[in-house]
Amino acid sequence: MSTTTTQPAVYTDGVVRQFAIMTVVWGVVGMLVGVFIAAQLAWPELNFGIPWLSYGRLRPLHTNAVIFAFGGCALFASSYYAVQRTSQVKLFAPALATFTFWGWQLVIVLAAISLPLGYTTGKEYAELEWPIDILITLVWVAYAVVFFGTVGTRRVRHIYVANWFFGAFILTVAVLHLVNSAEVPAGWMKSYSAYAGVQDAMIQWWYGHNAVGFFLTAGFLGMMYYFIPKQAERPVYSYRLSIVHFWALIFTYMWAGPHHLHYTALPDWTQSLGMLFSLILLAPSWGGMINGIMTLSGAWHKLRDDPVLRFMIVSLSFYGMSTFEGPMMSIKTVNALSHYTDWTVGHVHSGALGWVGLVSMGCIYFLIPRLFGQKKMYSVKAIELHFWTATIGIVLYIAAMWIAGVMQGIMWRSINDDGTLTYTFVESVKATYPYYVIRFLGGALYLFGMCVMLWNTLMTVVTGRSVQTPIPALAVHA
Ligand code: HEM
Ligand code: HEM
Repeated sequence: MSTTTTQPAVYTDGVVRQFAIMTVVWGVVGMLVGVFIAAQLAWPELNFGIPWLSYGRLRPLHTNAVIFAFGGCALFASSYYAVQRTSQVKLFAPALATFTFWGWQLVIVLAAISLPLGYTTGKEYAELEWPIDILITLVWVAYAVVFFGTVGTRRVRHIYVANWFFGAFILTVAVLHLVNSAEVPAGWMKSYSAYAGVQDAMIQWWYGHNAVGFFLTAGFLGMMYYFIPKQAERPVYSYRLSIVHFWALIFTYMWAGPHHLHYTALPDWTQSLGMLFSLILLAPSWGGMINGIMTLSGAWHKLRDDPVLRFMIVSLSFYGMSTFEGPMMSIKTVNALSHYTDWTVGHVHSGALGWVGLVSMGCIYFLIPRLFGQKKMYSVKAIELHFWTATIGIVLYIAAMWIAGVMQGIMWRSINDDGTLTYTFVESVKATYPYYVIRFLGGALYLFGMCVMLWNTLMTVVTGRSVQTPIPALAVHA
């Protein structure tokens, strides 16, 4: 007589572990490049006369590394983790999920080689040349199959709201990438955009703005809706509001792109439309932020001794700040002052460091101990240290850029009685110098916190072990 033992079904967490660790690694790399280019802006001789260390080549390396490598890995990790728990099944097509991990790492490595060598399409946030674009497409299609396949094979009837946000992020990024990267190859690492003139600009900023809206926002809102209730051990403040939030946000974002092209050759009505939708966007953005923060109702005391929750909640405050600031900057008369200045860079980093950075870190701190069979991270004190260095770093960075930006805008528009300019451009550059040094210091602090996180992560991983989490038999909410 033979006996058969049936193994309990377990979640597919290997790929989540891989993406979670690489989030931290790429975070350190991308931010290191950020600190280096921040130093170059204060001390330009730091390019040492070497072409591949020049600012123009390293800047896109920074943006690609932090957005797509750091942010991208955090999104893959958190969406793969959350979709399994909320659907109560393991990942659909795990082999494809493994392909998304290795494929995405290859994209990142190819970016890290080709950008410093000077290969670029010249389109911001879409600089990678066409062979890499094709690889991105393959990885993204695989990601969509894994994610929607998992949702499609779920054992619970309801599709939890976090998955709506992750799903919208995956679908929209696919469309954005395909449309904006349409190009005619002119050699292995050279191509020309399929669009020309003002159409090219419009497509580019429809892409650029929605990259902010869907890559840097919708996916991270998916994280917020799963991980904040988990960490706070409270249900989402208002589930109804989360659904309104979802539809209002994804509908409104699509139209706001022209605010990047105020006072250009773009038809005037298009610019006004972009401004109007940007102003409307304040409402869903704040609705979502309030929903996230209020999830802590009755559990505010947890903020006192839970640094992971603090990362998540403070990230929402920065989300609120940058989504108030963005609509203000989209008003044409305000943009006339802010555009081309460091105010924009300050806005970007209040969203990037404050929102995207902190919420990702909070989620990774949530995930790492659970994925490696530990009760908590190796050092909770180190999480505290990270939290404070990151927060002080952000404040230094964005305050310096706001002051510098407004100062530059005012200097550039100052006119003497006889109609000549009051300041030469180089005078504004000289006046900006101290703020560039402060930004460098703020960035260095933020990077220091990230290095502490890397150490803490590695210690948690080596002292732990990969665990297999069984899928619960009952279809209760995970
Ligand atoms: C240690 C942290 C960081 C430092 C020191 C840093 C520094 C910089 C610098 C110096 C620039 C160029 C600004 C200019 O051209 O005037 C830049 C651009 C940018 N960075 Fe960062 N950065 C950091 C982290 C991040 C993170 C975590 C993200 C995203 C998640 C990010 C996203 C961006 C974006 C999108 C731009 C382009 C902004 C624009 O075109 O207006 N950065 N960063
Ligand atoms: C309601 C939400 C938001 C609105 C209406 C908005 C609006 C704006 C405006 C008007 C600009 C300046 C365009 C220019 O003068 O060139 C801008 C730039 C930018 N914003 Fe936002 N913003 C919002 C939220 C965010 C968030 C949350 C992030 C990051 C996570 C972000 C990232 C960026 C980036 C990366 C740029 C610079 C693009 C570039 O020139 O390279 N924004 N945004």
